[in-house]
Amino acid sequence: MDKPLGKKNDLETCGFRENPTSSVCVWEQKDAVEAAPCPHTASRAHSLDSMPGPTNWPLVGSMVELLRKGGLRRQHEALVDYHKKFGKIFRMKLGSFESVNIGAPCLLEALYRKEGRYPQRLEIKPWKAYRDLRNEAYGLLILEGKDWQRVRSAFQQKLMKPTEVVKLDGKINQVLKDMVARIGKINVNGKIEDLYFELNKWSFETICLILYGKRFGLLQEEVNEEAMNFITAVKTMMSTFGMMMVIPVKLHKGFNTKTWKDHTAAWDRIFSTAKVYIDKKLKRNSSRDPDDLIGDILHQSSLSKKELYAAITELQVGGVETTANSMLWFIFNLSRNPGAQKKLLQEIREVVSPCQDPSGEHIKRMPYLKACLKESMRLSPSVPFTSRTMDKDTELGDYTIPKGTVLMINSHALGSNEEYFDDGKQFKPERWLRGSCTINPFSHVPFGIGKRMCIGRRLAELQLQLAMCWLVRDYEIVATDNEPLDVIHSGLLVPNRELPVAFIKR
Ligand code: HEM
Repeated sequence: MDKPLGKKNDLETCGFRENPTSSVCVWEQKDAVEAAPCPHTASRAHSLDSMPGPTNWPLVGSMVELLRKGGLRRQHEALVDYHKKFGKIFRMKLGSFESVNIGAPCLLEALYRKEGRYPQRLEIKPWKAYRDLRNEAYGLLILEGKDWQRVRSAFQQKLMKPTEVVKLDGKINQVLKDMVARIGKINVNGKIEDLYFELNKWSFETICLILYGKRFGLLQEEVNEEAMNFITAVKTMMSTFGMMMVIPVKLHKGFNTKTWKDHTAAWDRIFSTAKVYIDKKLKRNSSRDPDDLIGDILHQSSLSKKELYAAITELQVGGVETTANSMLWFIFNLSRNPGAQKKLLQEIREVVSPCQDPSGEHIKRMPYLKACLKESMRLSPSVPFTSRTMDKDTELGDYTIPKGTVLMINSHALGSNEEYFDDGKQFKPERWLRGSCTINPFSHVPFGIGKRMCIGRRLAELQLQLAMCWLVRDYEIVATDNEPLDVIHSGLLVPNRELPVAFIKR
């Protein structure tokens, strides 16, 4: 087994670094240890029953109240309101689903410090049901316990280590070159039709190149059928599982509903395509490129073939829309903040000469770019919350949270709380720069927290930073209107209309 999940990695995941490498604000480990005691910790913990929360009617719990607030599509806003009303911790019941919600850095820090060896997230039962049906393995998104740690360890060393991930800049750039050229071709007066889909194609193409060593040609004019079937299958799988999280998957399976059939057919397609390319990679033993991180993992880990299929497939599923969505918001925030964009362009021009491709080495010398991405992910996060299922009774703040309770970590509510971010509605990258930075790292957790945080974080950050270098260098990103943009929850946080931006060639 590779190096176990060590303390340094765990700390890094929360924004701590033992040896900061850039001038972007990071907290030192000692700061965490000496942090002020949580003001929400009482000397005697209360039971869950005394925890405040919205109306809890028989059977429906708070569902009616939530519907009045705009339903599940507005749940991120409802959570912000509830935190304002009930404080840093509250409980909520939606139908039979009961959760405790936390939205204070000190509570996140307490949770992080009390984390067990194998943290658990909320189960994604529809995915498990498919794997059980076809006798396939589980990947990182759904694994638990020792098996989760074994698979995580196999990928952790390569994927979470900046010095390893930086080697992927060539592959990332290969796709970016095509994307920038495509923007030049398909824009009409600077506007791109369905920018979100274009960005999804870009992130899909990138992750496939990294995972399978294969270009699918999604950014070409004539997209081949296999690529379209693959991307459509991922979309179908994602759009069908939500329904089965609300109405139990057992019922869908029992009645062989259309949702279940579509979901199963989509996974069949995803697995069969992924297996072909993973098998090809497994055969290419001797002639691997030095930047073939995944090839190294495939050949060096002791995971079974079945485990590798599942793990790689879930890396792909976890990495496509999240990255595209973060890029969409990054573009939006820069369009609305021309001053920041100008400063960013200046930094890019100072670090990267016009005849060079931006590289991972360049990014290390670009604190403003890193600050812009952090600020964009604070103001417009893609994932509004993550979860933990408590594996033991745990004292958190004033309360004892019983084993088995689902804890929601409301990262969106944290990032929009004025208590932790002055002028929080404004896009201010400067707040992240060393010198002016006093931000508690536990108030910014867009990739989650602790041992189970996003394993694709480093890759996603590099991809987004390089993408923005290419874009801003070639195009001025302008806002085509200044009307407010409504945000809705649809698995991720998405704008409710086409992004009002245009790309003007510099
Ligand atoms: C900007 C892009 C991304 C965002 C915002 C994001 C966000 C997240 C979040 C919030 C979690 C849950 C963490 C927790 O519970 O503490 C997560 C988990 C995960 N993400 Fe990402 N992610 C991104 C990109 C990626 C990429 C590129 C990959 C694949 C290379 C990936 C693969 C995964 C996997 C496999 C997990 C489960 C990890 C585990 O449970 O061990 N993500 N991500």
